[in-house]
Amino acid sequence: MTAMDRRTFLTTTLTGGIAASSPFLWSAFSAYADRIEDIAIAPPPRPAEKLPQLHSPRDTLFLTWQGDPTSTMTIQWLSRSETPTVIRYASLASAAQEQSLPHPPSRETGGETPRGIAWQKAVTRCHSFGRTDLKVHRCELTHLRPGTEYVFQIGEHLGLYRFRTMPAKANDLISFVSGGDCGIGPAAIASNLTAARQDPYFVLIAGDLGYDNGTSATTAISFIKNYSSQMVDSQGRLIPLITCIGNHEVRGGYKGQRSDATYYLPLFDGLYRETTYNVLDIGDYLSIVLLDSGHISPIPGEQTDWLASVLKERQDRPHLYVAYHVPAYPSVRSPQALIGLGTGELQRQHWCPLFERYRVDVALEHHDHVFKRTHPLTDGLRDRYGVPYLGDGSWGKLRTPASPEKRPYLARVSRNYHITLHRLEGEQRFHLALTENGKVADVYMTQGKRPAKRG
Ligand SMILES: [Fe+2]
Ligand SMILES: [Fe+2]
Repeated sequence: MTAMDRRTFLTTTLTGGIAASSPFLWSAFSAYADRIEDIAIAPPPRPAEKLPQLHSPRDTLFLTWQGDPTSTMTIQWLSRSETPTVIRYASLASAAQEQSLPHPPSRETGGETPRGIAWQKAVTRCHSFGRTDLKVHRCELTHLRPGTEYVFQIGEHLGLYRFRTMPAKANDLISFVSGGDCGIGPAAIASNLTAARQDPYFVLIAGDLGYDNGTSATTAISFIKNYSSQMVDSQGRLIPLITCIGNHEVRGGYKGQRSDATYYLPLFDGLYRETTYNVLDIGDYLSIVLLDSGHISPIPGEQTDWLASVLKERQDRPHLYVAYHVPAYPSVRSPQALIGLGTGELQRQHWCPLFERYRVDVALEHHDHVFKRTHPLTDGLRDRYGVPYLGDGSWGKLRTPASPEKRPYLARVSRNYHITLHRLEGEQRFHLALTENGKVADVYMTQGKRPAKRG
């Protein structure tokens, strides 16, 4: 059966027939389809879900950014309450002067509300969380001081939480963790704990977070509950979460509408207000361009035009990253297809030439569920001045990769769960791939700015 015959056969018989009437068969088929190729099919409606109990904001509390990470912080949680909630916050230094805060630090301190602290106040706004009766509470704190630790308190709840803003200048070590394709199982939890132990400034998860598929609120909530309770650093600070969209955030996976990202956009549309791609500029030293590999926004056209302009403006940034879900240089799926498009063909055609021209330092890719590192590449060929592609999204999901003999662009590849710790030290960047148990799977260094592609 040809690829087109198989696609036609699967989409017509399974979606119209047994899968549509059986959530179990649908999930089995989805898993199978995801292994063999990227098929855009809307799943059948699910019966009403029994959602997890949420007793307090702390069950789903997490931090993210929609503005400059050196001076803002966005606080979010899920609740059945629609009542706007007051957030009290103060710098840790000013709070510690007035009240001895507990040591060793923990995620949440108990006891009475500290007195005498010069709190600043902000209020949450609420909006719907997909097809549930839950509300997303969101509060963006602004005009914060760079490189400063803060404490905050939610409404009348007594617990104190901590976070830190990013420094204004990269004078000291800056570290963050990236990865993708998490899920909610034991491997994802082990990777969460390993990531938190690195004390990163933030975590970047580039698609396929919980695997809610735009249909399972329970899965989306479980992912956030795990993140909330596990992503706390050694000083008790909550670790902010940056994301971009993947196929398992969207009903059907590809070519969806914003409403198909049922449980993703309500949590992350602070950053993705109008488009499902954006750029996060951190001080004057690090920019991360976050792209949508065809799940809601098409790759060619507006998104690529936007990408060209944001990269051109940032080509002299000391550290310029791009991150997206479906890889340009896949380690499992085939980059070519007999009929139609191979995995990553549109990325290679529209995005990679821009990465090369505008001096992108590192591209982060995901979706194929292995550890991989490509050679530095220009036009798909090994070139010491080319762009390295790190991936391929195995925070909590695993597949068997193709060999470097079959894919000459691969420098290293292995069947490992992994996260990547990025350490920016001056103009050097260290990229450490760590297994879910914290063992070093790969060490790679990039340095300075690549020359722009010639010609
Ligand atoms: Fe995935
Ligand atoms: Fe994926």
